[in-house]
Amino acid sequence: MSELLNVHDLSVAYGAIQALKQVNLVVKEGSITAILGANGGGKTTLLKTISGLVPSQQGRILLNGRDITKLAAEKITASGIVHVPEGRQIFGDLTVYENLMIGAFTVKDQFVLESQLEPTIKDALKEVKKEGESIWLKKKDVIANNLAKVFRYFPVLEERRTQVAVSLSGGEQQMLAIARGLMATPKLLILDEPSLGLAPLIVKSIFEILKQLNDSGLTVLIVEQNALQTLKIADYAYVIQVGNIIKQGAASALIKDPELIEAYLGK
Ligand SMILES: Nc1ncnc2c1ncn2[C@@H]1O[C@H](COP(=O)(O)OP(=O)(O)OP(=O)(O)O)[C@@H](O)[C@H]1O
Ligand SMILES: [Mg+2]
Repeated sequence: MSELLNVHDLSVAYGAIQALKQVNLVVKEGSITAILGANGGGKTTLLKTISGLVPSQQGRILLNGRDITKLAAEKITASGIVHVPEGRQIFGDLTVYENLMIGAFTVKDQFVLESQLEPTIKDALKEVKKEGESIWLKKKDVIANNLAKVFRYFPVLEERRTQVAVSLSGGEQQMLAIARGLMATPKLLILDEPSLGLAPLIVKSIFEILKQLNDSGLTVLIVEQNALQTLKIADYAYVIQVGNIIKQGAASALIKDPELIEAYLGK
C-alpha cells in the first residue's frame, strides 16, 4: 500500500503549551489508521493540524507526496482530507438534507472510479468520458452519487432527510456528521472520537459501517478513546501521550500488547 498521508517531524504549540513534539505518522492508502491515547495527549491537535485548522510550528504534512502544511483549511478539504470533528458540529436548525449539502460544498466536476458509482447514477448517465477505470462526472452527478452512497450506508438519514438535525438521536447525529464528510468525496476521512457519548450498540454499528466504507476503498484516520473496538477494525495504530508518539504497530499486535491492555484496554 502506498503512503497517502505522511506527517513528518510535526510540532505544535499553543503559546507556552507544547501540544505535539516532533510527531511522525504515516497513513497508508486503503488503511484504517488509529490514534489512541489518554485525554490531553494531543490527538485532536494532530487532526486539526493535518486539516489546517491549527498552524504547525515545525514539520511537514504531505498528501500523496504533495506538501499541504501551509495550505488553508478549505484548500485541504478540497484536496481530499475531510475532517469529522469532535462533538459532531452539525447544524442543528438545518435539515438532514441541508447538512449533507453543506458537506458537498467543495465538490467539483471530477473523475470518479467506475467501481465507486452507485447503480442508479450509473444508469442515469448518458454520455460518459472515460479514462481507464474512471468516469468524468459533472459536479451535480458527483453530489447525486455521494448522496445515493450516503443513503445506502445510512438509510435512517434518508428516512429523516427533511427533519431538522437537532431532532436526531446522538447516534443519528454522529451518522449525519460522518455522512456530511462523505459528501465531499474524501480521499482521507479523519474522525475525532466518533463513539463519544454513544451507547455500545450504536458504537458497534457505526464502527461496522466505517469498516464497510473502508472495504469499499475509503482511507480512514481515526482518533478514539475506545481503544479495543478501534483496534478491532484498524490496520495500524499509534499511541500518543503528552504530545509524543510512545508506541505504534499493527493493530493485530497492539491488541495483544500487555502494556496497552493495562493502560487502555481495561482488565
Ligand atoms: N486552543 C487551545 N489553546 C491552548 N491549549 C490548548 C488548546 N487546545 C488544546 N490545548 C492543549 O493542548 C493539549 C492537547 O490537547 P488535545 O485537545 O489535542 O488533546 P486530546 O488528546 O484530543 O484530548 P482529549 O482526549 O481530551 O480529546 C492539552 O494540554 C490541551 O489543554
Ligand atoms: Mg480530543
